[in-house]
Amino acid sequence: LIMIVDFGGQYNQLIARRVREASVYSEVVSWRNALEKIKEKQPKGIIFTGGPNSVYLENAPTLDKEIFELGIPVLGICYGMQLMSQVLGGKVERATQQEYGKIKLNVPTSTGLFKSIEDQSQCWMSHFDYVKEAPAGFEIIATTDNCPVAAMANVEKNLYAVQFHAEVEHTPFGRQMIKNFLYEVCDCAGDWNMGDYAANMIESIKQKVGDKKVLCALSGGVDSSVAATMVHKAVGNQLTCIFVDHGLLRKNEGDEVEKVFAEQFHMNFIRVDCADRFLGKLRGVSDPEKKRKIIGEEFIRVFEEEANKLEGIDFLVQGTVYPDVIESGTDTAEVIKSHHNVGGLPEDMQFELIEPLRDLFKDEVRRVGEEIEVPSHIVWRQPFPGPGLAIRVLGEITDEALHLVRESDAILRDEVKKAGLERDIWQYFTVLPNIRSVGVMGDERTYSHAIGIRAVTSIDGMTSDWARIPYEVLDKISSRIVNEVQGVNRILYDVTSKPPSTIEWE
Ligand code: XMP
Repeated sequence: LIMIVDFGGQYNQLIARRVREASVYSEVVSWRNALEKIKEKQPKGIIFTGGPNSVYLENAPTLDKEIFELGIPVLGICYGMQLMSQVLGGKVERATQQEYGKIKLNVPTSTGLFKSIEDQSQCWMSHFDYVKEAPAGFEIIATTDNCPVAAMANVEKNLYAVQFHAEVEHTPFGRQMIKNFLYEVCDCAGDWNMGDYAANMIESIKQKVGDKKVLCALSGGVDSSVAATMVHKAVGNQLTCIFVDHGLLRKNEGDEVEKVFAEQFHMNFIRVDCADRFLGKLRGVSDPEKKRKIIGEEFIRVFEEEANKLEGIDFLVQGTVYPDVIESGTDTAEVIKSHHNVGGLPEDMQFELIEPLRDLFKDEVRRVGEEIEVPSHIVWRQPFPGPGLAIRVLGEITDEALHLVRESDAILRDEVKKAGLERDIWQYFTVLPNIRSVGVMGDERTYSHAIGIRAVTSIDGMTSDWARIPYEVLDKISSRIVNEVQGVNRILYDVTSKPPSTIEWE
C-alpha cells in the first residue's frame, strides 16, 4: 500500500492512478487526517501531492514533523516538496521567475529515484513558490535554469522530493520515476492485479453476507452492472436486482439489460415498467433542475415501494467508485448541475451497504468487469445520465420528442459503431433543441425539428473536447437521421468544449 496525501492539487487522482498502473495499490487521504491514517495502515511509502497554497502562509495545509520520523519513505511533489522543505528547516520563497509548462531538467544522478533516466530530460512545471535552500541532510539531485532545487533527496532517511509534476504525460520519464520510487525506494512487490482484486472482493462479500439477503438497484450502467455481478458471484440468488425502467432510456435498452441479467446470468431480476408514472409527473415541466429533481424523487419512491414488497433484506449494493469517495471527502465545488445518479438512494433506508467498487477508478471497474465476464457491450458502455433522455429533450417532454431523440440517437450509435469509433469517443448522443426550421423535401416545404449531435472526448467527464468525427461519418449520420426519422429536417453538430459548455445540453 502507498498512501497519497492530498493537498488539493488538480492532478492528485492521477498520482493514485500512476501508482496503480505500476501494480501497487494506492489510496488517497486528506492531509487533515493523514498522520493518523498512515500510522494505522503502515503503508510502504507516502506521496505528498501538489496543491494551490503557499507553505509559508498562515493556515496553509501542513503536517507534523513526526511523519518524517516513522521510517516510511516519502516522495513530495510540487507543494509536497515545498512542505517537506519547510517542515524540515529548508527555505521556501516566492520565485521571481515562475516556471510553467515544459521545462528542461538537468539530472546529474542516475541512481535511486532517477534510475534509468537521462541526464537532460523534459519535465512539466507549474509553480510560483520554490525551494531556495534544501533542508540540512538533503542533496540536490536535479536543477533547471531557474530552479536551483528541482529535486532533492535524503537517501539515508528515504525522503525524496521533486518540484515538477512527475504524474502528468508532459513529464515523459514520470512513470519511470514513480516506479523507481515504488520499487527501488519503497521495496514494493508490484503484484497488485485486477484478477486477485476481484477474487478477494468476492470472497469478502461472501463472508460478510453469510446467508442473508441483498438488494441492488441495477441501472444497466457499467458501475451498477459490475457491482451486481460481483455480488451475484459471491452469494448467487440471495441477491435481488431491481431495475426501474422510467421510460427515459435509450432505444431497446430496457430489454437488453433484462436479457443479460435475467436470461443470461439468471439473477433474481425485477423490472419495474413505470414510464407512464414518470412521464405523468414530468408533464408541463421544462426547467432542467426541476426535471432532475422529479426523476430523482420518483425513482426513490418506486424503489422503496418495490423493496418493501420483499422481506428480510439486510444489505444494499451500491456501485460507488473511488472518485466519488475522494470527491465527497474533499471540499465541495460549486453546483453546476445537481447530478442525480439513479442509484442515489435515501439515507434513511435501513440497510448495510456493500460497495465492491469503492476502491476502483472507472477504467479499473471495466477491467474487473472483464475479469468476471460481464458482457463487453456493458463493460464498454458509454456513460448515461440517471435522468436519461429527459435532459436531452430540451424543455417540455412529450412522447413525440422522446421518439425523435431516441430514434436519432440509435442511428448515431449505430454509425459510430460501424465506423469503429466506439472506444475513441467518450460519450456521444443526440439532443432535441426546442427549435423548428424550414426545409424542402421532394417538392414540398417542411417546417420540422432540428437534432443536435453531441460527441466528446474526455478522461473523466470533468472537462472535455468535441470529438473530431470524420466528415464522411457525420454525413452518413446526418442523411440517415433526416431520412429515417420523420419530423427531422436539419442536423447540427456541437463544436464546443467543456468548459465553457457542459457535455449535456441541460
Ligand atoms: P455535464 O453535462 O455536467 O456532464 O458536463 C458530465 C457527465 O455527467 C453526466 N451527467 C449526469 N449523470 N445524473 C447522472 O448520473 C445527472 O443528472 C447527470 N447530468 C450529467 C453526463 O452524461 C456526462 O457524462
